[in-house]
Amino acid sequence: MLYTASNPEDETQHLLFHNQFISAVKYVGWKKERILAEYPDGRIIMVLPEDPKYALKKVDEIREMVDNDLGFQQAPLMCYSRTKTLLFISNDKKVVGCLIAEHIQWGYRVIEEKHPVIRSEEEKVRFERQKAWCCSTLPEPAICGISRIWVFSMMRRKKIASRMIECLRSNFIYGSYLSKEEIAFSDPTPDGKLFATQYCGTGQFLVYNFINGQNST
Ligand code: COA
Repeated sequence: MLYTASNPEDETQHLLFHNQFISAVKYVGWKKERILAEYPDGRIIMVLPEDPKYALKKVDEIREMVDNDLGFQQAPLMCYSRTKTLLFISNDKKVVGCLIAEHIQWGYRVIEEKHPVIRSEEEKVRFERQKAWCCSTLPEPAICGISRIWVFSMMRRKKIASRMIECLRSNFIYGSYLSKEEIAFSDPTPDGKLFATQYCGTGQFLVYNFINGQNST
């Protein structure tokens, strides 16, 4: 969070933000966990809407914190009773990744703009960060909407988001493994766009819930 250290109002806001963050990411562990995968650096668990209150409370806290971190109002979930939340728990008992997925029917393909001649990877990232994105108005069938995907800033670029999506693909619908074509990202941020482009292997991935869009999912 950006704040002015000499401004008392800003300092109070910062303290509130900090406390909310610390309490949201703290994870003491539950007796019954739905573990989807275990790795040397942590594990991925899934929380469903019918789970005990303490699990749903944690998911709410995390979602609020993620929305604050993203810094803008997120689209409300389509149908809460059918959402699936994946949390990446680090070995030091912190929630360092969160993915909230929902059922959707349609996605819209991002229209890739032609890059100017770009020499380095840094230039490409800078260009991607600066430009807005556009998508087709033609709906295409999709199954799974990634409403939110977030990784703690200090833990980024360790494939935490990629691992969460892999787990999601094999656990979103019982007995089937979703293809990348069946997944859409909700109004992606510049980071989200860079990630999705890499993960999907194309800049023309599917999106939904975009601002000013028809939102017909
Ligand atoms: N810039 C450029 N490329 C990026 C990138 C970034 N910020 N984030 C991911 N990628 C690409 C890279 O090619 C990366 O592989 P590499 O590290 O070997 O080069 C690949 O995607 C896989 O990234 P991964 O490590 O799995 O992603 P992550 O765990 O760092 O999480 C986000 C990615 C987007 C979830 C994370 O940056 C984040 O939480 N951002 C803030 C919240 C946000 O904007 N969420 C997106 C909402 S749509």
